[in-house]
Amino acid sequence: MEIRTVLGDITKIKCDAIVNAANTSLLGGGGVDGAIHRAAGPKLLEACREFHGCETGQAVITWGYDLPAKYVIHTPGPIWRGGAAGEEELLAACYRNCLELAKDHECETVAFPSISTGVYRFPLKKASRIAVKAVRDFGERASIVREVILVAFDSRTKEYYDQALEE
Ligand code: APR
Repeated sequence: MEIRTVLGDITKIKCDAIVNAANTSLLGGGGVDGAIHRAAGPKLLEACREFHGCETGQAVITWGYDLPAKYVIHTPGPIWRGGAAGEEELLAACYRNCLELAKDHECETVAFPSISTGVYRFPLKKASRIAVKAVRDFGERASIVREVILVAFDSRTKEYYDQALEE
């Protein structure tokens, strides 16, 4: 499995599945969640309503509608509360569960935003190491997922993910 970083807007990426850093209501929000819903169109919210929410660390999959990506995988990341509330394991679970869903839907290419490092205030360096480790661990098990793209929206974020890939 190839893992690479790009600097850009995940809503513009043409791949099999993009991941949405959602909240547990799945009813949209700001940040990347808002951008994905705006780009996908109103059908995405209709589809999300069917799930009646999603627990932190879990993931659900919908069509991508007006997005260039075929699917959107929605995962609520953990809100950083200082690190003693299982945040690290929950973040790893986000990546793992998204990749499992991607595999189940025969996605070969999957793009992730930097889950939880915006509004949810998860420390960026720690989050980037958790993300890369979780993706690498998944990649050791043969699966159809052959490329994971870690999409940074700003250069500081990209720097942390590039460093994590070099470790
Ligand atoms: N493409 C890629 N990355 C983006 C985009 C975009 N278009 N827009 C924002 N980002 C980046 C942010 O810069 C940050 O690095 O996504 C990362 C995650 O930040 P948030 O979107 O704030 O997500 P998160 O920290 O997981 O908080 C989730 O915010 O938007 C609400 O509904 C969402 O309640 C949920 C919470």
